[in-house]
Amino acid sequence: MNSLAQTPIVIAHRGASGYLPEHTLAAKALAHAMGADYLEQDIVLTRDGVPIVLHDIHLQTTTDVAERFPERARKDGQYYAIDFSLAEIRQLRVFERRQPDGEATVFPARFPLTPGLFTVPTLAEEISLIAGLDRSRGKQTGLYIELKAPRFHAAEGQDIARAVLEVLQETGYAKRASQVFLQCFDDATLRYLRHELHTPLPLIQLIADSSWGEDSAVDYDFLLTPEGLDAIARYADGIGPWLRQIYLGSDPQGAPLFSPLVGEARARGLLVHPYTFRRDDLPEGIDSFEQLLDLFVGQQQVDGLFTDFPDLVVDYLRHHPPARTPQ
Ligand code: G3P
Ligand code: CA
Repeated sequence: MNSLAQTPIVIAHRGASGYLPEHTLAAKALAHAMGADYLEQDIVLTRDGVPIVLHDIHLQTTTDVAERFPERARKDGQYYAIDFSLAEIRQLRVFERRQPDGEATVFPARFPLTPGLFTVPTLAEEISLIAGLDRSRGKQTGLYIELKAPRFHAAEGQDIARAVLEVLQETGYAKRASQVFLQCFDDATLRYLRHELHTPLPLIQLIADSSWGEDSAVDYDFLLTPEGLDAIARYADGIGPWLRQIYLGSDPQGAPLFSPLVGEARARGLLVHPYTFRRDDLPEGIDSFEQLLDLFVGQQQVDGLFTDFPDLVVDYLRHHPPARTPQ
């Protein structure tokens, strides 16, 4: 954990994914070595109900599933992780994320589309890696677990929340509230975790832009209102907003414009962990990664941030120790 109580936590988004293919154990080991406070896991389930670390419910944009199992796409042309057993998932090779409709990578300057080097880890395997590195490096690194598409999983007959908690129970992390966050875009799943599964772990309500179609059952515009934040504060410990829901651009004189979201969340005791800070994908009008961090760490004083480049944020915080307003 970060030893400075009021220094924002650095959450390695899909690992050190600016340097190695997302959600590979290599990307997680690199993020650990870079000093990230938390390593993020996006979780989906296999057909046999095993939590695996994968961002999409589909496999084709980050693995060679189409080459290995060409006959296993659904009618929509997509290869769903939940249609594959863990034994089959283990046969896949992971590569740098590529565009849905082609061979080009999403981030051209990142790790090349090298086949064959990486596999899809289970959540249990990744926890084992982190615990091992914590031991050998004398660290205590956090897990930051996102439950992906709970309603999709439920429609497939699977309870992803319960499956994740079972792995945390088996690995000894189920009650480590200072070391594990659970995050989800679906408010109903967070309520289920809090009020029915009774997890003691801190919960983060992710907030998408309503235009993305992230989960049509969730009213993200409402969650951003004072009433929505009141509701979140009844079941969660913080919010994970898109950074553009905080930074709105600049005025004609070039001064940054911010929404009231950080202050309104903090007034309700909610942590604020925005996503995603990328050196190679800066918001319009921002000239450098350091400028972006100045806005969010220096001015908005967020409590943590998701980044593909944990080394850069760790380095920034070392050189810009936050002078935070006492709460
Ligand atoms: O979980 C925070 C952030 O990772 C949400 O976006 O799509 O990268 O999972 P996504
Ligand atoms: Ca995520």
